[in-house]
Amino acid sequence: MFMELSGFYKLSVEERLAKIKKIAGLTDEEAALLASTGALKSDVADRMAENVVGAVHLPLGIATNFRVNGKEYLVPMAIEEPSVIAAASKAAKLALPKGFTAEAEEPVMIGQMQIVGVGNAVEAIGKLDAKKKEIMKICSEQLKGLERYGGGIRNVVFRTLKTPRGEMVLAEFEVDMRDAMGANMMNTMLEAVSPTVAEFAGGETRLRIISNLATKRKVKARAVWKKDKTGEDSIEKILDCYELAANDIYRCATHNKGVMNGIDAVAVACGQDWRAIEAGMHAYAAISGEYRPVTHYEKDKDGNLAGTIELPMAVATVGGAINTLDTARVALKILGAKTSQELGMVMACAGLANNFAALYALSTEGIQKGHMRLHARNIAVLAGAETPEEIDGVAERMSEKETYTLDSAKEALKKIRKG
Ligand code: MEV
Repeated sequence: MFMELSGFYKLSVEERLAKIKKIAGLTDEEAALLASTGALKSDVADRMAENVVGAVHLPLGIATNFRVNGKEYLVPMAIEEPSVIAAASKAAKLALPKGFTAEAEEPVMIGQMQIVGVGNAVEAIGKLDAKKKEIMKICSEQLKGLERYGGGIRNVVFRTLKTPRGEMVLAEFEVDMRDAMGANMMNTMLEAVSPTVAEFAGGETRLRIISNLATKRKVKARAVWKKDKTGEDSIEKILDCYELAANDIYRCATHNKGVMNGIDAVAVACGQDWRAIEAGMHAYAAISGEYRPVTHYEKDKDGNLAGTIELPMAVATVGGAINTLDTARVALKILGAKTSQELGMVMACAGLANNFAALYALSTEGIQKGHMRLHARNIAVLAGAETPEEIDGVAERMSEKETYTLDSAKEALKKIRKG
C-alpha cells in the first residue's frame, strides 16, 4: 500500500481521492461524499492542509438569547452533538433579562524560549536581564505590523528550571496580539531573536514556541440564574452536582467537557484553533496542582444561583483560518464581535451556559430525556423516514412514548405510512 502512495502529496485532490477510493474499496457514492466539499472549495482545502482528499461537514446552528454586557448576540455553533445548541440557548434565556457580564484581559500571549548549556543559570539570567532592552528591541522590529494595530512586545522574563537533564533557562516573551491569536507571529519572532538571546546567555537555544497556557489572556464571565425561574430546589441540586466536580477528578473531566461543548462549538464555527483553547483550558484547570472545574457556582445573598467561569481564551477575529474559511468569516459576522477580547467573552459565556444547562438537566430530569427528544429525528431517519412529515411524526411518537429505539421508530413509521 505504501508503494502505491509514493508521491501522494504531489497529486491533485481528485487523483488522491481516486487512489484512496481504490485502496479502501470505497463505492462511487462514498467517494462522492468526500468530494463534495461544499462551501470549502477543494483547491482552498488543498492549500490549508496536506494530502487532502475531501472535506467533512458539520451542522452550523445559532444559539439564541445571549446578552453579554448588555449587548445581544447570535452565537454560531458548529457541532455534531444534539442538544448543545438548544441547551446553550435555554441557559442563556434563563439568565435574562440581565444575561451575562464578562471581562477580558489584554490579549497577551506568552512565547517560550528554552536555553541550555549556560553553565551557571543564575549568572546567565543576570546577563540576559542586563540585555533585556536590546532583546525587546529585536522583538519589536519583528512585530512592526502588530504595533500598527496597538499590539507588540510587552515584556520578557527569565527563569530557571531544574530538570533531570540539568538546569535550563527559560525566556518568556509576552506579546500583545490584539485581534490575532498570534501563534505564527510569536513563533517567527522567537526564532528571529533566539541567536541573540543564545549569545547573551552564553548557551544554546532549543525549543522556541508559543505557550497554549495563555494565563495573560484570560476571560471571566458571570450569570445569575434566579430562583423563581430555576426553582430553589434545583439550585440546591445543581450545587450538589457542582461539588462533585470540585472534589472528584473523574466528574471534573466531564464537567469541563460540558463547558467545552459550548466553547469548542463556537470555536469551530468561527475558525478558531480549538485544540489550543482546549489545551489552555485543561492546563489552567490544573494550574493549582489539582485539576479543578473552570466554572464555579454559589448562592448569592438572595438565594439565586451565581455561576462564574474563568479560563484562558486565545482567540482571534483576524488571521489564521479566518482568512481561508469563508464560513468562519460569515459566522464571525453573525456573532458580531469587533475584537478578539469580545469574541473570547462571548465564548466564555457559551461555555458557562452549556455547563449550567448540563448541571440543571443532570440534577433534575437527567440528561437523556431532552437529549433523546432531540436525537429522535436522527433515529427516525435511520428507521427509514424520508419526508419532513415522516421524520417529525416518528420523532413525536417516540417522545410521546419516551422510547427512543430503532425498533420503536420503525414501528411508528409503519403506522404513519398506513395512515
Ligand atoms: C455531554 O456532551 C456533556 C455532559 O456530559 C456534561 C456534564 O456531564 O456536565 C452532559
